[in-house]
Amino acid sequence: MGKKNIVILGMGTVGMGFVNTYLMNRETIEGKLGGPLDIRKVLVSSPGKKRPVDLPGDRYTGDFNDLNLEDADVVVELMGGVEPAFTYIKQAIERGCHVVSANKELMAKRGDELIRLADEKGVLLRYEASVGGGIPLINTITDGLASNRVIKMMGILNGTTNYILTRMTRDRISYEEALGQAKSLGFAEADPTADVEGFDAAYKLAILSRDAFGVVARPEEITRQGIKEISLEDIEYGLELGYKIKLLALGEKKKEHVELSVQPALISVDHPVASVNQEFNALFVEGNSLGEIMLYGKGAGGMPTGSAVMTDVMEILINGRKTIGSCKEKKMPIKNIGLSPYYVRMEVLDSPGVLGQIAMIFGEQGISLDSVVQRAKGSEVAPLVFITHDVKRECLDRALEEIEAREYVLKIQSILKVVR
Ligand SMILES: NC(=O)c1ccc[n+]([C@@H]2O[C@H](COP(=O)([O-])OP(=O)(O)OC[C@H]3O[C@@H](n4cnc5c(N)ncnc54)[C@H](OP(=O)(O)O)[C@@H]3O)[C@@H](O)[C@H]2O)c1
Repeated sequence: MGKKNIVILGMGTVGMGFVNTYLMNRETIEGKLGGPLDIRKVLVSSPGKKRPVDLPGDRYTGDFNDLNLEDADVVVELMGGVEPAFTYIKQAIERGCHVVSANKELMAKRGDELIRLADEKGVLLRYEASVGGGIPLINTITDGLASNRVIKMMGILNGTTNYILTRMTRDRISYEEALGQAKSLGFAEADPTADVEGFDAAYKLAILSRDAFGVVARPEEITRQGIKEISLEDIEYGLELGYKIKLLALGEKKKEHVELSVQPALISVDHPVASVNQEFNALFVEGNSLGEIMLYGKGAGGMPTGSAVMTDVMEILINGRKTIGSCKEKKMPIKNIGLSPYYVRMEVLDSPGVLGQIAMIFGEQGISLDSVVQRAKGSEVAPLVFITHDVKRECLDRALEEIEAREYVLKIQSILKVVR
């Protein structure tokens, strides 16, 4: 293979990681490709800005029409956001270019349109880096597990929230303090909404649903809850009962529907996913033939993510392959029946018989209890913590509505799913 031409849209954290991966591993990459890559043009917002990456200044432009797409073998989109990235990728595909993208928001919201268009035009679209940064999650699911039916997935797909929850658990610092430290270390954006409210993890779960289950899910169809309400009390009660709290992306394919959710949940300390700490990500997958596997690593950062983008470029140039799983999608109802054990923390008046009456209401709704923690505070108010056996969320909500109406119940403070 001779020289191959690359056009890059965006030269920020990941763009520079992509170029630096090439420069760092040039001999290996060129050896495998059988020739060099020529980064012909780079589209950015501010072409004059100084960037810590070894690329000649004349490669940068602020005008999409300067990119000479007809000369490009692969267009690499590392800008982020839905527009203008969608329009640019569409134009690149229409002009016969292969495309690699790291853009989770775009691939979650409009990926199916782009995949269809690429199929129609006979070009390849790969997006490994959009989920799990440097960890080869999509390639493992679509290619490595091609002979399996994926039944279940459980992921820690957002490094920011995992860092915050890890610090709260290890150092007993508040959510606000842990978020502040995540920001100062560059693990959280100035506006952390997309991470802490679970949007980022929901985008990634939507992409995985397409590739693992063959089911298109819109991010807004995914039940989503962030971590802002998690308190140190919940973390401490969880540990006392043998659980850690993690923001989990959960997917399960049932016969007639798919269950998808992103939510903070208690996970048994013995589960491999509970040992994923700090900014690390992991995906725990169950295949019907293989059984369980877990993929673990850095889910973000310029170099890990840039290396995944480079692998996609190489896969296109060497093997000319798209991911196996991405084109046989169907629409299935997305639900969250949420049959599982639940953790419930409430504040009640510390008077005789209260625990018995609450347990009776649970019983009347057919909910049996696995554990109860009752701790007198030496005041009129006492915390009560329950872990139920398997129950549907709607059934739990009915019981809790009735419990909350009782005069001795001051507040239901937390309801969290439990994973064992
Ligand atoms: N950062 C990570 O660790 C990570 C991990 C996984 C996936 N991703 C995904 O990778 C993509 C890039 O992320 P990033 O962190 O590298 O972003 P970033 O640092 O903000 O860089 C974005 C780049 O795109 C350029 N750009 C933005 N809007 C543009 C527009 N309208 N026209 C022309 N150029 C434009 C910017 O130009 P200027 O430099 O001139 O401003 C910048 O070079 C995103 O989709 C993100 O979700 C990131």
